[in-house]
Amino acid sequence: MSPDLDRRVFADLSYGLYIVTSRDGDQMNGQVVNTVIQVTSDPARVAVIINKKNLTHDFINRSKVFGVTVLDESTPMKFLGPFGFRSGRDIYKFSEVQFKEGVTGCPLVTEHAVSLLEAEVFDQIDLGTHTIFVGNAVNTEVLREGRPLTYQYYRDFLKGKSPPNAPTYTPSKQVDKREDKLK
Ligand SMILES: Cc1cc2nc3c(=O)[nH]c(=O)nc-3n(C[C@H](O)[C@H](O)[C@H](O)COP(=O)(O)O)c2cc1C
Repeated sequence: MSPDLDRRVFADLSYGLYIVTSRDGDQMNGQVVNTVIQVTSDPARVAVIINKKNLTHDFINRSKVFGVTVLDESTPMKFLGPFGFRSGRDIYKFSEVQFKEGVTGCPLVTEHAVSLLEAEVFDQIDLGTHTIFVGNAVNTEVLREGRPLTYQYYRDFLKGKSPPNAPTYTPSKQVDKREDKLK
């Protein structure tokens, strides 16, 4: 159990929004993630944090590769819905989405994307509910000019929420609006 924290502080942390993908044999999957960060420069390494209940977790854990799409601000909620609120255990997420296969074999979503990267897992840390996968970047590609989608833009303009499997999920009785903090 966490100590009695004012969880509104966590809403002040900044993130981007991404589609993280992986594959398992001939199966592909992907999900929305806000927790992608570059962790070292040389070699270039990135970390992603994935809930153990997610199918994407199983795929990365087995294949030890993952792909990242950096989304842009034009991304509509309709596009994010299947990737962020549905599991690949129940639906196939790539039927109406443009993507290509990367050098690692991961599907890379190219729609509403400013750039792409792929990584091979170098290490992983068990966090209980989630795993941090740290990967060596093995491929990067800029697709087009655009403004990367941020978590703040998602919350403020798309009126988006975080589901329970997201690390940033806030139980409904906890308020995370900035203006409530200032009262
Ligand atoms: C805005 C947003 C951010 C999210 N961030 C994460 C994240 O960082 N890590 C995570 O494991 N799940 C995150 N999720 C939840 C997953 O996208 C969601 O559980 C998805 O349905 C898992 O799909 P899968 O079972 O096909 O892998 C996020 C969802 C949304 C909408």
